[in-house]
Amino acid sequence: MPDPLHDPTADRPPDPEAVGRVLAYHELSKHHRHSYAPAPDALDWANQPDPFRTFAGAPAVELPLLADALRTSYADLYDPAPAGPKRADVNSVAVLFELALGLSAWKEYAGARWALRCNPSSGNLHPTEGYAALPAAPGLDGGVYHYAARDHALERRRKFTPAESAALADALPPGCLLVGLSSVHWREAWKYGARAFRYCQHDAGHALAAVRYAAAALGWSARLLDHAGDAAVAAWLGLDRDGFAGLDPLDREHPVALALVGPAPLPDALPVPPAPGGDGPWLGRANRLSPDHARWDEIDDAAAATWGPATAPRPAPQSPPLPPPKAGPPVPAATLIRRRRSCLALDGRTALDADDFYSMFDRLLPRPGVAPWDLFPWRPLVHAFVFVHRVRGLETGLYLFERAPEAHAALRPACSPGFAWRRPAGCPAHLGLYLLAGGDYRQAARTLSCHQEIAADGAFSLGMIAALGGTVRGRGAWWYRRVFWEAGVLGHVLYLEAETAGVRGTGIGCYFDDPCHRLLGLSGDAWQDVYHFASGGPVEDGRLRTMGPYAHLHGRG
Ligand SMILES: Cc1cc2nc3c(=O)[nH]c(=O)nc-3n(C[C@H](O)[C@H](O)[C@H](O)COP(=O)(O)O)c2cc1C
Repeated sequence: MPDPLHDPTADRPPDPEAVGRVLAYHELSKHHRHSYAPAPDALDWANQPDPFRTFAGAPAVELPLLADALRTSYADLYDPAPAGPKRADVNSVAVLFELALGLSAWKEYAGARWALRCNPSSGNLHPTEGYAALPAAPGLDGGVYHYAARDHALERRRKFTPAESAALADALPPGCLLVGLSSVHWREAWKYGARAFRYCQHDAGHALAAVRYAAAALGWSARLLDHAGDAAVAAWLGLDRDGFAGLDPLDREHPVALALVGPAPLPDALPVPPAPGGDGPWLGRANRLSPDHARWDEIDDAAAATWGPATAPRPAPQSPPLPPPKAGPPVPAATLIRRRRSCLALDGRTALDADDFYSMFDRLLPRPGVAPWDLFPWRPLVHAFVFVHRVRGLETGLYLFERAPEAHAALRPACSPGFAWRRPAGCPAHLGLYLLAGGDYRQAARTLSCHQEIAADGAFSLGMIAALGGTVRGRGAWWYRRVFWEAGVLGHVLYLEAETAGVRGTGIGCYFDDPCHRLLGLSGDAWQDVYHFASGGPVEDGRLRTMGPYAHLHGRG
């Protein structure tokens, strides 16, 4: 029988040395109950990295703030045949970035002020930077732009010649642009040390999902160009070019991904357009993020081991047919996307109805052409074990949720033999939800998520269990990052779904890895816990003052 984790389109066999290095990184970045992964002894506030990258000297295009004028509802975000603008222009690109990576609010407390964004980030440190590359379009010269989130502006790093602009227009489907993401690992490493490389990947997954949802808000679609390889991503975004010279290497950006964004339907497996030639000038100088830096060799090693090669394009995977999901609420999409928040505490009381719980989990299933899962050219690798604490109509206990039926044959025998694997009465037939063991798991959930109360005080919390060892051995070390991206997308769906259900969610990166595996009876590295999430009724902190996201731009509209 063919190995389902082997990637038949990979044009070279996985490098066992790189696989060994990334699996060693995974082990050393685990939290254990009595010893956390290596991290700074104390926070070095004098060197806290600037969460905003800017390129001084790059011509800036101030973008209009238009998301509030969109008529798309949250329900429309899941439309497989949306009708948006026929081509990118300055207004559509402005909305795309406003709702993907833009600010969602400012918070103030005791003289401190900090921004929140549409995409969440571990510790609100925001390692992910966003870029656009597009042919000449109304209001925008053809070129490569960095998105400056604080100013809602595009900084033009590279202006295309007319020939370059025409070549890109020919290479892309009509009206489309490329959106690129990069990651500054140092921003997370400053606080979290060795485990930070994982968080950068989670945050990249959240950012990818945020781009996909913002595209859907415009009536567009988005596809990850996963076959590009990191060298092409770096070349497209100018990460290896002028503008970073003289910076501490830790203030530089690591390539993450390129996505094709534009009017639906988008083609699968678009050949990656060649990056702009070597001799054109790249404008602006990247800012220094910290006066001083602390190097985490573990992160540099994981980044080197997981460097993504260019591969043959992969067509969209075949998914088994599913019934349409329940329509979401008619709330404006822009309102809901900007309302997404993490909860600081949950109330220990609010319960969800089973129907709402099932709807949330239904959104975690891939459907062709439906956001956000049509981003990825692979079948689900990440599933979940769920602690149900307060869901009306569902027994409390430990559950397993499989996002793809093919996972069952591998997951079930890998878990403890004593589990019930009972289908809950009333659970829709297409949801792969199984009760493993009934009971009160609040204490266990809290302990396993690094003793965080939110894991026990919500309606449910969960851990995402990924086919990790086999994936990186079968497909290559660079898939390590993809597994964490997928977990980030999963978290992002749950964040938005929690808001629609009238509750709140929080991604949880701090959890005890191996004790979670032991709870399920998992051994070896075939199945690994890669991210947690909690959801329930929030306790608001009345001491915080909230301000609008772009009030500081004084009426730019
Ligand atoms: C990958 C990831 C891991 C996180 N881990 C935790 C955690 O362990 N505990 C927690 O309370 N919040 C956690 N958060 C929530 C962040 O602190 C939060 O996203 C950030 O402060 C920004 O706030 P916002 O989500 O409201 O925009 C995590 C978020 C992400 C994206």
